Amino acid sequence: MNKKMIAALGCGALAASMMTMTAMAGEDVITVGYAQVGHESDWRTANTQNYQDVFSAENGFDLQLVDCDNDNAAQLEAVRNFISQQLDYIIIAPIQSAGWDTVLQEAQDAGIPVIIADREIEADASLYDAWVGTNTTNEGITAGNWLAETLDGAEANILTIEGSVGASATLGRTDGFAQVAADHSEWTLLDSQSGDFTQAGGQEVMESFIKSYEGQFNVVICQNDNEAYGAMDAMDAAGITYGVDGDVILISFDATHDGLQYTLDGKINCNVECNPIQAETVKGVIEKMQAGEEFETTTLVEDQAFVAPGITSEYATTMTDEVLAGRAY
Ligand code: AHR
Repeated sequence: MNKKMIAALGCGALAASMMTMTAMAGEDVITVGYAQVGHESDWRTANTQNYQDVFSAENGFDLQLVDCDNDNAAQLEAVRNFISQQLDYIIIAPIQSAGWDTVLQEAQDAGIPVIIADREIEADASLYDAWVGTNTTNEGITAGNWLAETLDGAEANILTIEGSVGASATLGRTDGFAQVAADHSEWTLLDSQSGDFTQAGGQEVMESFIKSYEGQFNVVICQNDNEAYGAMDAMDAAGITYGVDGDVILISFDATHDGLQYTLDGKINCNVECNPIQAETVKGVIEKMQAGEEFETTTLVEDQAFVAPGITSEYATTMTDEVLAGRAY
């Protein structure tokens, strides 16, 4: 058993004894605070709904979900509020990857187990109890590998609409794609700007890209589906064609229902999944902590990628009506 697991079990045992105390007082509801990023995207809406469904009163939870509206200071305040209320567990989907040490230490000093979810943080692993999320660097690598496969040595002039500045989902996707791009001297990264993971942000950045680079680009990468919808609106308005029958290859991330509909329609060429359905896994970790059992300190939520009909790929599944029908969010 490593040091992290011993530390984690320590918190689990503490939580179990806290549960015994609440049970003796006739209250067996588990109080959970979730400091959610915000409501910037369809992905985020699906993730929030998933937590509300899983951490329900029927399941024995009292969930305090705080929408932090992509405001880092508000998120730190939300976590401090959970600590002062002495909730049983704190879940954080970190807006920014940096700057967590002090508040995590405060939670640890208060004996409240913390689970980092969805995104990653730059903090020593001893400062939190478990992490559940996706590997966004691998998502970026998958996008790069698919582009290399489809271009097969042809030139690419690439514009990237990044996610929110400082978010691990942005950093990971950017880094993963850059790792693949480093092996392709025939690719030029023309420009990269943040669209803040929103449709309005994606549209605004794409409009400015079109002003600066019209006629010079053949690949647009949007780091989430909502940005892709905004970019499509901007390209439609400018008469630029994209997708399988267009002049521009469009890559997106998330693979939410509407994003996959656009992929099925051939408007998005490749859509790399980021799975928002994570709450059941987090609940499993909390249940083990409650029971004082060993639990996974790191759980990776698996992703896959999808491509438009007519494309076959070693890295992605070709979209069909059946695949779309199976996508609830
Ligand atoms: O952290 C996950 C990312 O955050 C999703 O890609 C994006 O849609 C969301 O806002």
